[in-house]
Amino acid sequence: EKGGFEHFMLKEIFEQPKSIKDCFRGRLIANDGKLVLGGIREYANALTNANRIVIVACGTSWHAGLVAEYIFEEFCRIPVEVEYASEFRYRNPIISEGDIVIAISQSGETADTLAAMELAKSKGAIVLGVCNVVGSSISRVSHEGVYTHAGPEIGVASTKAFTAQLTVLTMIALRVAHRKGTMAEQRYRSLLAELETIPAKVEKALKTDDQVKKIAELFKDARNFLYLGRGYNFPVALEGALKLKEISYIHAEGYPAAEMKHGPIALIDEEMPVVVIATRDSSYDKIVSNIQEVKARKGKVIAIVSEGDSLIPTMVDFTIEVPGTHDALMPMVATIPLQLLSYHIAVMRGCNVDQPRNLAKSVTVE
Ligand code: F6R
Repeated sequence: EKGGFEHFMLKEIFEQPKSIKDCFRGRLIANDGKLVLGGIREYANALTNANRIVIVACGTSWHAGLVAEYIFEEFCRIPVEVEYASEFRYRNPIISEGDIVIAISQSGETADTLAAMELAKSKGAIVLGVCNVVGSSISRVSHEGVYTHAGPEIGVASTKAFTAQLTVLTMIALRVAHRKGTMAEQRYRSLLAELETIPAKVEKALKTDDQVKKIAELFKDARNFLYLGRGYNFPVALEGALKLKEISYIHAEGYPAAEMKHGPIALIDEEMPVVVIATRDSSYDKIVSNIQEVKARKGKVIAIVSEGDSLIPTMVDFTIEVPGTHDALMPMVATIPLQLLSYHIAVMRGCNVDQPRNLAKSVTVE
């Protein structure tokens, strides 16, 4: 059942080229410039004309929401707020007419997310679901929604569900941007074509496995890790840190790279591994200076870079290359080596990667 893999988590990491493809199969028709999202038909207009989008989720799904915030704001010019479901539900949130709430959940059973949706509904919001489990409570409570179709995720640490969530959210944003006219036709077409190449790029990113394993060997006994990213890669840093914490029990923090100088930089010394997601995008020059700041304090830098980067490898201790893509799609590719890094470190530390202590696959209690 693990398909020859030692753990479900590793199987699910390696399934991602397929699960992403399954997610857009029948929906993304790049040649015709078409996106068919049957799950949001009735509310497609409401979404296009939304004054505001509020995303509610927990954990990894909340990280997917953060990426979606950047995507919706850039593509659709709709203001987005991303809320922890547990915070949203307990503070009498302001919901106005024309607000759309999107709930993101792999299991579709997360108690706080479900309660946040019920609350938003009671205040008159239209609630859409992005869910992996067909027929789950969250899918039933939402007005409409889009399934991620990543297949069953058994490992407690979410991997393929995350990249499928990103795929769905990107498709929704592209659909809305196209309807709304906030994205030029040519750019829309090129993004559809680029989205179609992501499974192959993820496949290539998976080829870093051996190299990542060697790095894992060197850092498996670290007590702390920092993960830094900017722009679209900031949520990737948060997600990388969460993956490491939950399965290897190493303390890790994700930060927007520029925030480092406002506090966390005090932690950096030769003992501190710092994973920097530094792919070539619009914040590239800025992240290069953040790397310099870490190196000046003797931190050990592991950088995730775009293929062919010749500058960063001269500055850092280790580089892992991933194929380049559009800034907004990079999280799907850049997250792969971080999943592998946490997996290998956890295995080397003798941890139960598929069922980490204190964690459950679906959190049905608040
Ligand atoms: C992290 C993880 C959790 C879940 C969170 C939300 O790897 O698995 O943080 O992402 O409990 O779960 P869902 O998406 O099922 O609502």
